[in-house]
Amino acid sequence: MYNLKPELFDFNSVKGISKKQLDEHYKLYTGYVTKLNEIWNTPYVPANYTDSNATYSKMRSLKLGETYSLDGVKLHNLYFENMTGGNNTPHGLLFNAIINQFGSYDTFISYLTNVGVSMRGWAVLTIDSIDNKLHIIGSDSHDNGAVWLSFPILIMDVYEHAYFMDFGTDRKKYISTFIENINWDVLNDRFEKYISLAQHMNNDMNQRRFCPYNLF
Ligand SMILES: [Fe+2]
Repeated sequence: MYNLKPELFDFNSVKGISKKQLDEHYKLYTGYVTKLNEIWNTPYVPANYTDSNATYSKMRSLKLGETYSLDGVKLHNLYFENMTGGNNTPHGLLFNAIINQFGSYDTFISYLTNVGVSMRGWAVLTIDSIDNKLHIIGSDSHDNGAVWLSFPILIMDVYEHAYFMDFGTDRKKYISTFIENINWDVLNDRFEKYISLAQHMNNDMNQRRFCPYNLF
């Protein structure tokens, strides 16, 4: 029996986005959790899937619903976590890596903003296992544009449901408000977890894939 629960977030710490906007957004998120549990608790009965087909079938609907709701839950967990309850001053190992890689903090913010304005779902700062470098990935929906073995660091929801109540069509204003709420302690924690993981992988697999960051 799968019984995933929605996580709780400190929305009172968010500045510049109304409680009503955040509460409505949270309701959508809890809906993804409910549907994911429903999908995962659907027993596999072979007789129910004799129509399997890549155009339209019960299995196709189930699998599309699974990735949409699963990615929806994960992305919202990470998004709400990285915009609540913390130190909003850019700092730490991740901040240094951003300067290193993007040239300046302003360039990074400009790039992130333009990705956010250009996509319909998400802008995600990741560190990718293929090169151990930072990348800003754009996605039109929860399960579109997702990259395997890429580690999420900063998640920004740019669906209209994330801001329309407060900002109308002014998505750039929402993005700048979101950026002011980023919890840099959460970001640095994620970044350090990835580095630790990459170092273990390199040791275990004797790989020489260069990780430019060192925790120790
Ligand atoms: Fe959302």
